[in-house]
Amino acid sequence: MLKEKIAQLLGEVSGLQANDAAELENLRIKYLSKKGIVNELMAAFRDVPAEEKRAIGIQLNELKSALQNKLAELREALATQEDDHSDLDLTRTPYPVSLGTRHPLSIVKNEIIDIFSRLGFSMADGPEVEDDWHVFSSMNFAEDHPARDMQDTFFVEQHPDIVLRTHTSSVQSRVMEHAEPPIRVICPGRVYRNEAISARAHCFFHQVEGLYIDKDVSFTDLKQVLLTFAREMFGPETKIRLRPSYFPFTEPSAEMDISCNICGGKGCSFCKHTGWVEILGCGMVDPNVLEANGIDSKVYKGYAFGMGVERITNLKYQVKDLRLFSENDVRFLDEFMAAN
Ligand code: DAH
Repeated sequence: MLKEKIAQLLGEVSGLQANDAAELENLRIKYLSKKGIVNELMAAFRDVPAEEKRAIGIQLNELKSALQNKLAELREALATQEDDHSDLDLTRTPYPVSLGTRHPLSIVKNEIIDIFSRLGFSMADGPEVEDDWHVFSSMNFAEDHPARDMQDTFFVEQHPDIVLRTHTSSVQSRVMEHAEPPIRVICPGRVYRNEAISARAHCFFHQVEGLYIDKDVSFTDLKQVLLTFAREMFGPETKIRLRPSYFPFTEPSAEMDISCNICGGKGCSFCKHTGWVEILGCGMVDPNVLEANGIDSKVYKGYAFGMGVERITNLKYQVKDLRLFSENDVRFLDEFMAAN
């Protein structure tokens, strides 16, 4: 009886079919699960008379492995069916690949670096979390200078001596304390000031500092380098003018304007109808700064300048709201695709 049942089942194995994973699972449950047919047969096998046990045992094992093999084969067939890409439409228009763009501030920063490297400047770097010495004292700021005020400077809590640098001039000091003149470096980097965020002010922005120290450095050298920079950056027609100013770390100090590159100097709302826009501060390195940083001011002289990268980017690309630079709105960033 059992023998015939097993033989019949063995005959059915090769014809088993499964069209999907659910059907396959049903077959497994029907034949091979705990309560499946094979286990039922195993239970019945216990009552088989001793002389038949061997033959039926072999037959039963044969059925079990035939079922296992068949189900594995069906599983395999289903898996390759899923991998079959024959319904792929290779003529369909592909999804657009959206490429990233370089950030406008990086584009402009790289351009500034390029121009000054052609003029022989190398790059220097310093920390954004800096000590009072490098940001202020070594730069000839008086003890009670208003820039040290809580209103302008972010202090690190419980460390009154540690601040977020308010300008990249701190890197001047970092460079001077290690290098021997001649020194000719530019230092790009992020700076922080305790300002309320608006279209025209932000609590962080970017600067590029420049420093040149050698034996015979004059204000004329400074002016020539800045004129070359302005023309390379804003076009050969660009004019510059220097206005006397004050910075603790330079003497004499000046602020540099360029002829407004938006109206060509004729006067527009961007230059407040003056024809000029300010782009940087500069001057001859104050001898106190050289001495504070271990450089003999009787032998060496220097010039320095510092410019805001946002300011120059605004002039080049007329970005009206500073907040756009840090919001990472893709619609804004995509506008710079062509400049990359
Ligand atoms: N550190 C100044 C600022 O943050 C910019 C500056 C002015 C840098 C004159 C200089 C300089 O090196 O000579 O406003």
